[in-house]
Amino acid sequence: MSAPLELSGIRTVFFSPTGGVRKLVTTLAQDFAQQLDLPIAKTDFTLPQARETSYEFSPSELVLFASPTYAGKLPNKLLPYISSGFVGNGAPAVALIGFGNRSFDNALAELVSCLEGDGFSLVGAGAFSNRHAFSQTLAADRPDEADLSELNQFACAIADVVRGKREATSPLDVPGDAEAPYYRPIGLDGEPTVFLKAKPVTDMSLCDQCGLCPRRCPMAAIDFNDVSQTPGTCIKCHACVRLCPQGAKSFEDPAFLSHRGMLERDYQRRAEPVWFV
Ligand SMILES: Cc1cc2nc3c(=O)[nH]c(=O)nc-3n(C[C@H](O)[C@H](O)[C@H](O)COP(=O)(O)O)c2cc1C
Ligand code: SF4
Ligand code: SF4
Repeated sequence: MSAPLELSGIRTVFFSPTGGVRKLVTTLAQDFAQQLDLPIAKTDFTLPQARETSYEFSPSELVLFASPTYAGKLPNKLLPYISSGFVGNGAPAVALIGFGNRSFDNALAELVSCLEGDGFSLVGAGAFSNRHAFSQTLAADRPDEADLSELNQFACAIADVVRGKREATSPLDVPGDAEAPYYRPIGLDGEPTVFLKAKPVTDMSLCDQCGLCPRRCPMAAIDFNDVSQTPGTCIKCHACVRLCPQGAKSFEDPAFLSHRGMLERDYQRRAEPVWFV
Protein backbone atom coordinates (compact mmCIF):
# COMPACT_ATOMS: atom_id res chain seq x y z
CA MET A 1 0.00 0.00 0.00
CA SER A 2 1.17 3.53 -0.72
CA ALA A 3 -0.09 6.86 0.67
CA PRO A 4 -3.19 8.29 -1.05
CA LEU A 5 -2.54 11.24 -3.38
CA GLU A 6 -4.03 14.57 -2.25
CA LEU A 7 -5.69 15.83 -5.44
CA SER A 8 -7.68 18.99 -6.09
CA GLY A 9 -8.46 18.39 -9.76
CA ILE A 10 -7.99 16.54 -13.04
CA ARG A 11 -6.54 18.21 -16.12
CA THR A 12 -6.66 16.88 -19.66
CA VAL A 13 -3.75 18.04 -21.83
CA PHE A 14 -3.94 17.04 -25.48
CA PHE A 15 -3.14 17.49 -29.17
CA SER A 16 -6.05 16.34 -31.30
CA PRO A 17 -6.45 17.68 -34.85
CA THR A 18 -9.39 15.44 -35.82
CA GLY A 19 -10.95 15.00 -32.37
CA GLY A 20 -10.34 11.30 -31.71
CA VAL A 21 -7.76 11.78 -28.97
CA ARG A 22 -9.84 14.55 -27.41
CA LYS A 23 -12.75 12.12 -27.15
CA LEU A 24 -10.58 9.40 -25.57
CA VAL A 25 -8.98 11.66 -22.99
CA THR A 26 -12.25 13.42 -22.14
CA THR A 27 -13.95 10.07 -21.56
CA LEU A 28 -11.09 8.94 -19.32
CA ALA A 29 -11.28 12.21 -17.36
CA GLN A 30 -15.03 11.81 -16.87
CA ASP A 31 -14.50 8.25 -15.61
CA PHE A 32 -11.96 9.58 -13.07
CA ALA A 33 -14.13 12.53 -12.09
CA GLN A 34 -16.95 10.12 -11.27
CA GLN A 35 -14.70 7.93 -9.16
CA LEU A 36 -12.73 10.64 -7.41
CA ASP A 37 -15.32 13.42 -7.32
CA LEU A 38 -12.92 16.04 -8.72
CA PRO A 39 -13.39 18.91 -11.21
CA ILE A 40 -11.96 18.64 -14.76
CA ALA A 41 -9.95 21.38 -16.50
CA LYS A 42 -8.40 21.18 -19.98
CA THR A 43 -5.35 22.36 -21.87
CA ASP A 44 -5.80 21.82 -25.60
CA PHE A 45 -2.51 22.52 -27.41
CA THR A 46 -3.75 21.58 -30.88
CA LEU A 47 -3.65 25.12 -32.26
CA PRO A 48 -0.42 27.11 -32.59
CA GLN A 49 -1.66 29.96 -30.36
CA ALA A 50 -1.93 27.52 -27.45
CA ARG A 51 1.72 26.57 -27.96
CA GLU A 52 3.02 30.13 -27.61
CA THR A 53 3.17 29.60 -23.87
CA SER A 54 4.38 26.84 -21.57
CA TYR A 55 2.31 25.17 -18.85
CA GLU A 56 3.23 24.38 -15.29
CA PHE A 57 1.53 21.82 -13.04
CA SER A 58 1.45 20.96 -9.35
CA PRO A 59 1.38 17.59 -7.53
CA SER A 60 -2.27 18.23 -6.58
CA GLU A 61 -3.41 17.89 -10.22
CA LEU A 62 -3.85 14.55 -11.99
CA VAL A 63 -2.70 15.24 -15.56
CA LEU A 64 -4.08 13.12 -18.41
CA PHE A 65 -1.68 13.80 -21.29
CA ALA A 66 -2.80 12.56 -24.70
CA SER A 67 -1.49 12.52 -28.25
CA PRO A 68 -2.12 10.63 -31.48
CA THR A 69 0.41 8.23 -32.97
CA TYR A 70 1.98 9.56 -36.16
CA ALA A 71 4.24 7.08 -37.99
CA GLY A 72 4.53 4.93 -34.89
CA LYS A 73 5.73 7.75 -32.64
CA LEU A 74 4.62 11.19 -31.41
CA PRO A 75 3.94 13.74 -34.17
CA ASN A 76 7.51 14.79 -34.95
CA LYS A 77 6.74 18.50 -35.41
CA LEU A 78 5.14 18.53 -31.95
CA LEU A 79 7.94 16.67 -30.21
CA PRO A 80 10.06 19.75 -29.34
CA TYR A 81 7.01 21.38 -27.73
CA ILE A 82 5.94 18.24 -25.83
CA SER A 83 9.53 17.97 -24.57
CA SER A 84 9.91 21.60 -23.47
CA GLY A 85 6.49 23.26 -23.13
CA PHE A 86 5.39 21.50 -19.93
CA VAL A 87 6.79 21.63 -16.40
CA GLY A 88 5.51 18.67 -14.39
CA ASN A 89 6.80 19.61 -10.90
CA GLY A 90 6.09 16.02 -9.83
CA ALA A 91 2.41 16.10 -10.86
CA PRO A 92 0.95 12.60 -11.24
CA ALA A 93 0.33 11.92 -14.92
CA VAL A 94 -1.27 9.37 -17.22
CA ALA A 95 0.12 9.00 -20.76
CA LEU A 96 -2.61 8.26 -23.30
CA ILE A 97 -2.03 7.46 -26.97
CA GLY A 98 -4.61 7.23 -29.75
CA PHE A 99 -3.80 5.21 -32.86
CA GLY A 100 -5.62 4.35 -36.06
CA ASN A 101 -5.82 0.55 -35.71
CA ARG A 102 -2.49 -0.21 -37.41
CA SER A 103 -0.15 0.05 -34.39
CA PHE A 104 1.06 2.57 -31.83
CA ASP A 105 4.52 1.03 -32.24
CA ASN A 106 6.80 3.23 -30.09
CA ALA A 107 4.50 6.20 -29.44
CA LEU A 108 3.54 5.22 -25.89
CA ALA A 109 7.16 4.61 -24.88
CA GLU A 110 8.10 7.97 -26.38
CA LEU A 111 5.30 9.81 -24.56
CA VAL A 112 6.18 8.18 -21.23
CA SER A 113 9.82 9.12 -21.73
CA CYS A 114 8.93 12.74 -22.65
CA LEU A 115 6.62 13.16 -19.66
CA GLU A 116 9.25 11.77 -17.30
CA GLY A 117 11.71 14.24 -18.84
CA ASP A 118 9.18 17.04 -18.24
CA GLY A 119 9.14 16.18 -14.51
CA PHE A 120 5.82 14.35 -14.27
CA SER A 121 5.39 11.32 -12.06
CA LEU A 122 3.81 8.62 -14.25
CA VAL A 123 1.01 6.60 -12.66
CA GLY A 124 -0.38 4.96 -15.78
CA ALA A 125 -0.15 4.69 -19.56
CA GLY A 126 -2.47 3.35 -22.24
CA ALA A 127 -2.99 3.18 -26.00
CA PHE A 128 -6.43 2.98 -27.56
CA SER A 129 -7.53 2.63 -31.17
CA ASN A 130 -9.63 5.36 -32.76
CA ARG A 131 -10.60 6.34 -36.28
CA HIS A 132 -7.60 6.64 -38.57
CA ALA A 133 -7.35 10.28 -39.64
CA PHE A 134 -6.34 9.21 -43.18
CA SER A 135 -9.52 7.23 -43.83
CA GLN A 136 -13.31 7.54 -43.72
CA THR A 137 -13.66 3.89 -42.83
CA LEU A 138 -10.61 2.54 -40.99
CA ALA A 139 -11.51 2.06 -37.30
CA ALA A 140 -14.41 4.46 -37.85
CA ASP A 141 -16.39 2.72 -35.09
CA ARG A 142 -13.61 3.05 -32.48
CA PRO A 143 -13.64 3.60 -29.60
CA ASP A 144 -16.55 1.15 -29.35
CA GLU A 145 -18.36 -0.24 -26.29
CA ALA A 146 -15.54 -2.69 -25.54
CA ASP A 147 -12.94 0.11 -25.73
CA LEU A 148 -15.00 2.34 -23.44
CA SER A 149 -15.32 -0.45 -20.92
CA GLU A 150 -11.54 -0.99 -21.07
CA LEU A 151 -11.00 2.76 -20.62
CA ASN A 152 -13.21 2.60 -17.54
CA GLN A 153 -11.20 -0.30 -16.08
CA PHE A 154 -8.03 1.69 -16.72
CA ALA A 155 -9.57 4.64 -14.83
CA CYS A 156 -10.57 2.34 -11.93
CA ALA A 157 -7.02 0.98 -11.64
CA ILE A 158 -5.52 4.47 -11.54
CA ALA A 159 -8.18 5.66 -9.10
CA ASP A 160 -7.05 2.82 -6.82
CA VAL A 161 -3.47 4.11 -7.04
CA VAL A 162 -4.69 7.62 -6.20
CA ARG A 163 -6.60 6.30 -3.20
CA GLY A 164 -3.52 4.37 -2.04
CA LYS A 165 -5.26 1.01 -2.54
CA ARG A 166 -2.90 -0.14 -5.26
CA GLU A 167 0.85 0.24 -5.61
CA ALA A 168 1.95 2.22 -8.69
CA THR A 169 4.64 0.51 -10.79
CA SER A 170 7.77 2.62 -10.88
CA PRO A 171 9.25 3.01 -13.40
CA LEU A 172 6.29 2.20 -15.67
CA ASP A 173 7.14 -0.60 -18.06
CA VAL A 174 5.46 0.02 -21.43
CA PRO A 175 6.15 -1.68 -24.77
CA GLY A 176 8.27 0.03 -27.39
CA ASP A 177 11.47 2.01 -27.64
CA ALA A 178 11.35 5.80 -27.27
CA GLU A 179 14.47 6.09 -29.45
CA ALA A 180 13.26 3.86 -32.31
CA PRO A 181 12.99 5.35 -35.81
CA TYR A 182 9.65 6.36 -37.34
CA TYR A 183 7.48 3.76 -39.07
CA ARG A 184 8.05 3.91 -42.83
CA PRO A 185 4.73 3.86 -44.71
CA ILE A 186 4.25 1.18 -47.34
CA GLY A 187 1.98 1.20 -50.36
CA LEU A 188 -0.45 -1.27 -51.91
CA ASP A 189 2.46 -3.07 -53.58
CA GLY A 190 4.15 -3.66 -50.21
CA GLU A 191 7.02 -1.33 -51.06
CA PRO A 192 7.99 1.75 -48.98
CA THR A 193 6.23 4.87 -50.17
CA VAL A 194 7.01 8.52 -49.42
CA PHE A 195 4.48 11.35 -49.21
CA LEU A 196 6.27 13.79 -46.92
CA LYS A 197 5.60 16.66 -49.33
CA ALA A 198 1.89 15.88 -49.86
CA LYS A 199 -0.52 18.74 -49.13
CA PRO A 200 -4.31 18.99 -49.30
CA VAL A 201 -5.96 20.07 -52.54
CA THR A 202 -9.05 22.29 -52.49
CA ASP A 203 -12.00 22.10 -54.86
CA MET A 204 -12.69 25.83 -55.13
CA SER A 205 -16.03 25.15 -56.83
CA LEU A 206 -17.19 23.73 -53.47
CA CYS A 207 -15.39 26.13 -51.09
CA ASP A 208 -17.55 28.99 -49.77
CA GLN A 209 -14.61 30.78 -48.12
CA CYS A 210 -15.91 30.14 -44.59
CA GLY A 211 -12.37 30.50 -43.22
CA LEU A 212 -12.57 27.43 -40.99
CA CYS A 213 -9.62 25.49 -42.40
CA PRO A 214 -6.94 28.17 -41.91
CA ARG A 215 -8.28 28.85 -38.41
CA ARG A 216 -8.19 25.18 -37.40
CA CYS A 217 -4.93 24.06 -39.03
CA PRO A 218 -2.59 23.03 -36.17
CA MET A 219 0.40 24.24 -38.17
CA ALA A 220 -1.11 27.52 -39.44
CA ALA A 221 -0.09 26.17 -42.83
CA ILE A 222 -3.09 27.35 -44.91
CA ASP A 223 -3.18 30.82 -46.50
CA PHE A 224 -6.08 32.84 -45.02
CA ASN A 225 -6.40 34.90 -48.21
CA ASP A 226 -6.33 31.93 -50.59
CA VAL A 227 -7.30 28.70 -48.82
CA SER A 228 -6.34 26.63 -51.86
CA GLN A 229 -2.71 27.40 -50.97
CA THR A 230 -0.83 25.65 -48.16
CA PRO A 231 2.51 27.46 -48.00
CA GLY A 232 3.35 26.22 -44.47
CA THR A 233 4.42 22.81 -43.22
CA CYS A 234 1.60 20.27 -43.55
CA ILE A 235 1.73 17.35 -41.10
CA LYS A 236 -1.07 15.47 -42.92
CA CYS A 237 -3.20 15.62 -39.76
CA HIS A 238 -6.39 15.82 -41.90
CA ALA A 239 -8.08 18.44 -39.70
CA CYS A 240 -8.87 20.55 -42.77
CA VAL A 241 -10.28 17.55 -44.66
CA ARG A 242 -12.43 16.45 -41.72
CA LEU A 243 -13.65 19.90 -40.71
CA CYS A 244 -14.45 21.48 -44.08
CA PRO A 245 -18.27 21.77 -44.11
CA GLN A 246 -18.30 21.68 -47.92
CA GLY A 247 -16.10 18.60 -48.35
CA ALA A 248 -13.77 20.73 -50.46
CA LYS A 249 -10.44 19.41 -49.10
CA SER A 250 -8.76 16.13 -49.94
CA PHE A 251 -5.37 14.48 -50.39
CA GLU A 252 -4.76 13.28 -53.94
CA ASP A 253 -1.06 12.46 -53.77
CA PRO A 254 -0.67 8.99 -55.39
CA ALA A 255 1.85 7.74 -52.81
CA PHE A 256 -0.45 8.82 -49.98
CA LEU A 257 -3.48 7.17 -51.64
CA SER A 258 -1.50 3.96 -52.07
CA HIS A 259 -0.58 3.95 -48.36
CA ARG A 260 -4.18 4.65 -47.37
CA GLY A 261 -5.34 1.83 -49.63
CA MET A 262 -2.86 -0.55 -47.98
CA LEU A 263 -4.07 0.46 -44.50
CA GLU A 264 -7.72 -0.04 -45.46
CA ARG A 265 -6.90 -3.41 -47.03
CA ASP A 266 -4.50 -4.84 -44.41
CA TYR A 267 -5.57 -3.32 -41.05
CA GLN A 268 -9.23 -4.25 -40.75
CA ARG A 269 -8.49 -6.65 -37.88
CA ARG A 270 -9.22 -5.35 -34.42
CA ALA A 271 -6.22 -3.77 -32.65
CA GLU A 272 -6.90 -4.17 -28.93
CA PRO A 273 -6.29 -1.37 -26.43
CA VAL A 274 -3.56 -1.80 -23.82
CA TRP A 275 -2.99 -0.07 -20.49
CA PHE A 276 -0.43 -0.21 -17.70
CA VAL A 277 -0.56 0.96 -14.09
C1 LIG B 1 0.29 11.69 -40.12
C2 LIG B 1 -0.42 10.56 -39.44
C3 LIG B 1 0.28 9.39 -39.16
C4 LIG B 1 -0.37 8.32 -38.52
N1 LIG B 1 0.35 7.20 -38.20
C5 LIG B 1 -0.28 6.17 -37.57
C6 LIG B 1 0.43 5.00 -37.22
O1 LIG B 1 1.63 4.88 -37.41
N2 LIG B 1 -0.26 3.97 -36.66
C7 LIG B 1 -1.60 4.06 -36.43
O2 LIG B 1 -2.20 3.06 -35.97
N3 LIG B 1 -2.29 5.19 -36.69
C8 LIG B 1 -1.66 6.24 -37.27
N4 LIG B 1 -2.35 7.38 -37.54
C9 LIG B 1 -3.74 7.50 -37.10
C10 LIG B 1 -3.85 8.38 -35.88
O3 LIG B 1 -3.03 7.93 -34.84
C11 LIG B 1 -5.29 8.45 -35.40
O4 LIG B 1 -6.10 8.80 -36.48
C12 LIG B 1 -5.32 9.48 -34.30
O5 LIG B 1 -5.53 8.89 -33.10
C13 LIG B 1 -6.11 10.67 -34.63
O6 LIG B 1 -6.09 11.56 -33.57
P1 LIG B 1 -7.02 12.84 -33.63
O7 LIG B 1 -8.37 12.35 -34.12
O8 LIG B 1 -7.08 13.28 -32.22
O9 LIG B 1 -6.41 13.83 -34.56
C14 LIG B 1 -1.74 8.44 -38.18
C15 LIG B 1 -2.44 9.62 -38.49
C16 LIG B 1 -1.79 10.66 -39.10
C17 LIG B 1 -2.57 11.93 -39.38
S1 SF4 C 1 -3.04 21.73 -44.10
FE1 SF4 C 1 -2.04 19.91 -43.34
S2 SF4 C 1 -1.47 20.42 -41.24
FE2 SF4 C 1 -3.04 21.91 -41.87
S3 SF4 C 1 -4.99 21.03 -41.24
FE3 SF4 C 1 -4.65 20.38 -43.35
S4 SF4 C 1 -3.67 18.36 -43.16
FE4 SF4 C 1 -3.46 19.39 -41.15
S1 SF4 D 1 -13.18 24.92 -44.58
FE1 SF4 D 1 -13.77 24.33 -46.65
S2 SF4 D 1 -15.31 25.82 -47.26
FE2 SF4 D 1 -14.25 26.67 -45.49
S3 SF4 D 1 -12.58 27.93 -46.34
FE3 SF4 D 1 -11.74 25.89 -45.99
S4 SF4 D 1 -11.98 24.80 -47.94
FE4 SF4 D 1 -13.35 26.58 -48.00
